[in-house]
Amino acid sequence: MATIDRKYIVVGGGVAGGYAAREFVKLGLQPGELTIFSKEAAAPYERPALSKAYMFPEAAARLPGFHVCVGSGGERQLPDWYAEKGIELKLESEIVKADLENKTLTTDKGDVYSYGTLVIATGSTFLNLADFKTAGADAKGIYYLREVHEADKLVDAIKANKGGEAVVVGGGYIGLELAACLTINKIKVTMVFPDPCFMPRLFTPELASFYEGYYENKGVNIIKGTSVTAFEKDDNGHVSKVILKDGRTLDSTLVVVGVGAKPLLGPFKGLLEEEKGGIKVDASFKTSDPNVYAVGDIATFPMKMYGDTRRVEHVDHARKSAMQAVQAIKAAEKGEVVDEYDYLPFFYSRSFDLSWQFYGDNVGETVHWGREAGTPDSKFGAYWVKDNRVMGAFLEGGSPDENKLIAKVAREQPSVNSTQDLVSAGLGFASKV
Ligand code: FDA
Ligand code: NAD
Repeated sequence: MATIDRKYIVVGGGVAGGYAAREFVKLGLQPGELTIFSKEAAAPYERPALSKAYMFPEAAARLPGFHVCVGSGGERQLPDWYAEKGIELKLESEIVKADLENKTLTTDKGDVYSYGTLVIATGSTFLNLADFKTAGADAKGIYYLREVHEADKLVDAIKANKGGEAVVVGGGYIGLELAACLTINKIKVTMVFPDPCFMPRLFTPELASFYEGYYENKGVNIIKGTSVTAFEKDDNGHVSKVILKDGRTLDSTLVVVGVGAKPLLGPFKGLLEEEKGGIKVDASFKTSDPNVYAVGDIATFPMKMYGDTRRVEHVDHARKSAMQAVQAIKAAEKGEVVDEYDYLPFFYSRSFDLSWQFYGDNVGETVHWGREAGTPDSKFGAYWVKDNRVMGAFLEGGSPDENKLIAKVAREQPSVNSTQDLVSAGLGFASKV
């Protein structure tokens, strides 16, 4: 079979793949130069919608409403957009083999493509409870969420279980967002996770206690400090009971799992330098092979602000890293270089009527300001202070302008004389930076 030649190939049609396409077009792309491969059936879309508006009982988000780049206020890239720009978008097409020496990729259909420059944007995949050796993890009725086809299955399960009960395994992003979605759909939720509080990788116990109280008020039952050891199945192989390590048993025919993600290296595993589980890149997202870039969840990149290397599994970085890589590729063609990637970490979540944003680094001492945990009214937030400088800032319920203020704090890392000043000034501190 003849090899199909392309100037550029992007493997992965998720968030980073979609933003890479936009940047190629913006910087000048000739028809036929770019092919994007995605194992999904849908053109690149804004993945965060899946654990939020996609699950709403009414006016739910559906494609094509949230194709990239609506999440950043850009033009919606429908499949026709790719065709108009002369981009070949190969959906339901997985790259199963990569030969970096000969610069070729092989699809699951056996087609062989060669590239001048390759961008890897294969993202992450969810951890499966089978990875933790949980007995019965293959039972029907257990759902995970990464891609839109999985979201569709979960939507059907939610409809079938209205008025019933569900167990949500995991107290991180997926656990919190989906527990809220199930509750809004009138399903009684019990959450189970081994941590002492919600989302300890970011929340302090004080922050977590507010969100836990809010969820409990909405009727969510929270079981902390234990995990699932087994699922019992009925005669049809459908989950019927959830067995916990602490000896408790929960009756449930619907289980939703969010116990973390891992980078999806797929056919690129072992072919490039790796670090922290991802593909190691420089400040322009170039890998150890000069013809290959890696962006989004998969990339372990230099974090200029903090002088270390990190992998970030969030959408803002997926967008920006893709844009940075394409700018670097186009600049290199002209013998130029781009400025180093200088990323300010930005994480956010929305559930029920809640909406928080965090910028920066959650290191050092945490200073909480605003309402006491569990009391209604008014905003609240936190600053993280290290060596007398504010390194990170968190705000619940901020307006767009207020969120910009805390982003500025995290970027500028102002010095503080006393943490007590931060407690009393609250958001007022950010407005003076
Ligand atoms: P992404 O996973 O988006 O895309 C990878 C693509 O590559 C997929 O389409 C995959 O099928 C494809 N692929 C993989 N291997 C392939 C192969 N060999 N051949 C062809 N195609 C291949 N973040 C945030 O900041 N705020 C939020 O609210 C949320 N919400 C959220 C909800 C849910 C349900 C999930 C799963 C994730 C989030 N995130 C988030 C995280 C965010 O969505 C994530 O960081 C980005 O999607 C990462 O973008 P990538 O393009 O790197 O991977
Ligand atoms: P996570 O790392 O946020 O949370 C995993 C949770 O599972 C933690 O609470 C952990 O303690 C718990 N856990 C681990 N092992 C367990 C076990 N055996 N039993 C029960 N609980 C266990 O990961 P996630 O929530 O699964 O999210 C998956 C990916 O999607 C991540 O990359 C995340 O960044 C991304 N995501 C992000 C957002 C957002 O940014 N708003 C929203 C949804 C998903």
